[in-house]
Amino acid sequence: MGRQIGMVCALGGYSVTVWDIDPDMLEQAREELRSRMDRRVEKGTETRAQADSAFERLTFTTELEGPASTADYVIEAVVEKVDVKRDLFARLDRHAPEHAVLATNSSTIVSSRVADATNRPDRVCNMHFFNPALVMQCVEVVRNPQTSDATAETTIELTRRINRTPVVLNKEITGFVANRILHALRDEAIRLYEDGVSSVEDIDTACRTALGHPMGPFELQDLTGLDVGYYVKMARFEESGDPADKPARILVEKFEKGEFGRKSGKGWYDYPKK
Ligand code: 3HC
Repeated sequence: MGRQIGMVCALGGYSVTVWDIDPDMLEQAREELRSRMDRRVEKGTETRAQADSAFERLTFTTELEGPASTADYVIEAVVEKVDVKRDLFARLDRHAPEHAVLATNSSTIVSSRVADATNRPDRVCNMHFFNPALVMQCVEVVRNPQTSDATAETTIELTRRINRTPVVLNKEITGFVANRILHALRDEAIRLYEDGVSSVEDIDTACRTALGHPMGPFELQDLTGLDVGYYVKMARFEESGDPADKPARILVEKFEKGEFGRKSGKGWYDYPKK
């Protein structure tokens, strides 16, 4: 998601550094964004000049310290593992200017779990985008108990300036608002499939044609990543201790086989390499 969030911010007029540890990932990110923006220009979503100037504001790098030292706002979108995020937040805290806000795009890991890895817990919050970030309008702004009013206001203002719609949560809960609702639907879809009631394809068709959802729950899991879905369920289970919150058997099997959805070429559906 990080690359698309970067592009959204660049389209909103900000100078953005997209950081990753892997140079190949950065190259892939650049290529994907190029082709997505070309398509948007063809369809008239942006003009060629808007797309080109947004690209000029984007920098891709594997170097953290330099870009962090001049950042006003950082949005982290690394793997959903709390230790990895805490390490990164501690590093960012050492290098970012004092006024900079450090936000996490995580929907599972609430920001209070990373805030105490920094010396600025009042300038830490969740800024949660939806997939695909270039398209989806909603951004959940989630305050932790230490998040200051100024940090929340800056995040809401940033959300508006990048042409997104903020939904503010004054209280931290795992999954936030939209994912709580989405996961209830997903769990039911998996149960119907596991019970042999209907096929993956037909359950998706029902959601599209009966409920007007743009995508069925299985197609959507393939888009957002079954690995992310697995981590989200595990986090809910660890928090509640309720076995009903555990990931479904079939989701565990797919996770263990590396069937993560579109990104791995196979999930609930197959995605042959073009
Ligand atoms: N990345 C970026 N842009 C994409 C995209 C992708 N993966 N897939 C499609 N798009 C863009 C297209 O380029 C097009 O843009 P344009 O209008 O500017 O040209 C636009 O989306 C519409 O695409 P299409 O006409 O090809 O197809 P659809 O009309 O079917 O739309 C969709 C595709 C926007 C993905 C739509 O199916 C949809 O809204 N699906 C539901 C998405 C959803 O529910 N997201 C929330 C997931 S939960 C989440 O993210 C939480 C997190 O914590 C896991």
